[in-house]
Amino acid sequence: MKNIYYNTLKISKIIAFVFVVSAFSYTFAQDGETLFNQNCASCHHPVSNGTGPGLKGAFDKWKKAGDDIYAWVKNPQAQYDAGVPSALAIQYNVGGMNGQAVSNEEIDAIFEYIDAWMPPTPSVGGADVAAVGGAEKSNSNWLWFLIVGLLMLVVLVAIWGTRRRLAYANAEKEGEEVKEETLESEVKGWMWRNLKLVSILGFILTCVVVGWLCSILYQVGVYENYIPEQPIAFTHKVHAGDNEIDCQYCHNSASKSKHAGIPTVNVCMNCHKAIKKASSGDRGTAEIAKIHKAAGYELVDPDKDKYEYTGKTEPIKWVKAHNLPDHVYFSHAQHVSVGKIECENCHGPVKTYTVGRTSSNEMINEMELTGDDADKKIIKLERDLLTMGWCIECHNKADVQTKDNGYYDDIHERLKKDKELYKSVMEDGKVKVKEFGGWECAKCHY
Ligand code: HEC
Ligand code: HEC
Ligand code: HEC
Ligand code: HEC
Ligand code: HEC
Ligand code: HEC
Repeated sequence: MKNIYYNTLKISKIIAFVFVVSAFSYTFAQDGETLFNQNCASCHHPVSNGTGPGLKGAFDKWKKAGDDIYAWVKNPQAQYDAGVPSALAIQYNVGGMNGQAVSNEEIDAIFEYIDAWMPPTPSVGGADVAAVGGAEKSNSNWLWFLIVGLLMLVVLVAIWGTRRRLAYANAEKEGEEVKEETLESEVKGWMWRNLKLVSILGFILTCVVVGWLCSILYQVGVYENYIPEQPIAFTHKVHAGDNEIDCQYCHNSASKSKHAGIPTVNVCMNCHKAIKKASSGDRGTAEIAKIHKAAGYELVDPDKDKYEYTGKTEPIKWVKAHNLPDHVYFSHAQHVSVGKIECENCHGPVKTYTVGRTSSNEMINEMELTGDDADKKIIKLERDLLTMGWCIECHNKADVQTKDNGYYDDIHERLKKDKELYKSVMEDGKVKVKEFGGWECAKCHY
């Protein structure tokens, strides 16, 4: 009898141990995605070009050429100096990469992630861009742990029940008096007898839960530096930067509505009907040809850049990089027209972007505005971009622009009638958004 008891105890200990250890290692394993985001994502994307080129396939390319990609990642300059063919062949923002402090194993994990990367599925396109949860991570692994954990619990309880039956049967056979124990008291008794094991399990469980909570908090910030793949390699650097096209020429609803909006293909064609070639070369020209195709024009004579109208239009399916959850209300007009906040304060150095992306605090706080932009006022923030803490932090720091602001004339007049209130609000001549209700849940949440 004792044997069964000890065997089940042993089995349950082993099962619990395996389960906890696997959950533990899952939580703390440094996966390729995390390593990539920490070390490479500020310049690289798996497929889109940014500061550095898209990296999908690079690992095999170097291997095939017989060159050492590990040495490159750790010290690119040395590979240039040594005249390694794969390095000389890159021809992309030459000299833009510095040595990375990663081990060979970490580089393996990074490229495993990059080569397995798939673009998030885009949906409806056109002016109203699709909201794609590309920055979301899958939680399905946790669901599996939960299911497996529950199954094990059921098995444990079943084994326990059988053991009890057997113990009673045994006791009855030997003519002993049967003491009916409730499951609860038996569990309690077992826990007392195995105090050490229970406290170790409790400690590990606490660690797992804390690790899990941290990973959720980490995910909140993954909206930073998010670069989705786009159907056309549009670059803000060429348009808003080099050619100084005003932001609101393309995002013309930013000052008057909730959405800034993405331009339709017709807006592109205002210029690209005439601009058919890119000075950057064939790659840029091929991208411009995609605009014509979307607007219903077919290239009939590549030598003369001659297009013919076919009428087969199709909207360009831009993928949104910024995605606030549905329960959040955010209005561009309120911030751009009334609050007089610069686009760059929330979107970073857009005029230098070669890919559509979200920014990060580091980029915004270190950004250098030159020329006409030099006198733009930027409120520096610490909280991760696009999180609730970020909105609140700015509402704490930003002054409401009440001077020469039509929006407030009416409110001012009404305030002035109540001298006490006017004094209390305007005492220091400054009003923070917070004092205006910028902290009220209902202002931001539906
Ligand atoms: C500061 C920006 C920056 C960071 C960070 C960065 N890279 Fe790069 N990377 C570049 C640039 C720019 C190039 C283009 C080559 C050049 O001119 O040096 C490049 C080129 C490469 C190439 C060659 C691609 C090819 O097609 O042959 C590989 C591989 C690469 N990087 C891997 C990595 C990995 C892995 C990390 C992270 C551990 C990383 N890089 C971090 C900027 C960066
Ligand atoms: C106070 C911060 C802030 C300012 C200032 C701001 N934006 Fe935005 N912008 C956001 C946020 C937050 C989103 C995401 C909105 C969403 O997902 O609903 C966004 C989204 C966008 C989008 C994606 C399409 C859309 O409408 O959702 C574009 C384009 C854009 N902004 C352009 C601009 C331009 C151009 C300016 C300046 C005229 C500007 N923004 C000023 C915070 C800001
Ligand atoms: C106000 C005029 C204007 C508008 C509107 C405009 N473009 Fe351009 N675009 C230009 C100019 C100028 C160039 C630079 C051509 C050159 O290389 O000489 C250019 C170049 C490009 C290139 C080639 C970039 C490269 O890599 O060399 C692409 C792709 C492009 N535009 C896409 C678009 C798309 C998509 C839209 C609509 C969302 C658009 N453009 C709207 C003026 C415009
Ligand atoms: C020639 C048209 C054009 C001009 C000018 C332009 N944009 Fe854009 N913008 C686009 C297009 C097209 C996209 C979608 C593709 C992409 O994300 O690169 C976009 C995307 C964006 C996004 C990302 C939206 C998202 O969530 O995906 C932001 C933010 C943005 N623009 C801000 C600006 C700011 C700020 C300026 C001025 C400095 C500006 N844009 C000037 C055409 C333009
Ligand atoms: C860079 C600074 C900044 C950031 C970041 C910012 N805001 Fe604001 N917000 C302001 C300012 C300034 C005002 C005041 C505008 C005015 O005068 O009404 C404002 C006003 C508002 C209002 C109207 C408040 C009222 O009482 O009428 C709402 C709602 C709002 N913001 C939502 C958001 C949300 C949601 C986010 C984050 C996604 C956000 N804001 C991020 C600066 C910011
Ligand atoms: C200035 C705007 C603003 C105010 C005020 C605000 N929130 Fe939020 N809240 C946000 C934004 C933006 C997010 C989305 C953050 C993200 O996606 O990471 C958010 C997310 C949340 C979430 C998390 C939901 C999720 O998607 O994970 C909760 C819960 C929440 N808010 C509750 C509140 C409560 C309660 C208050 C009042 C005390 C409040 N919020 C006030 C902007 C605001």
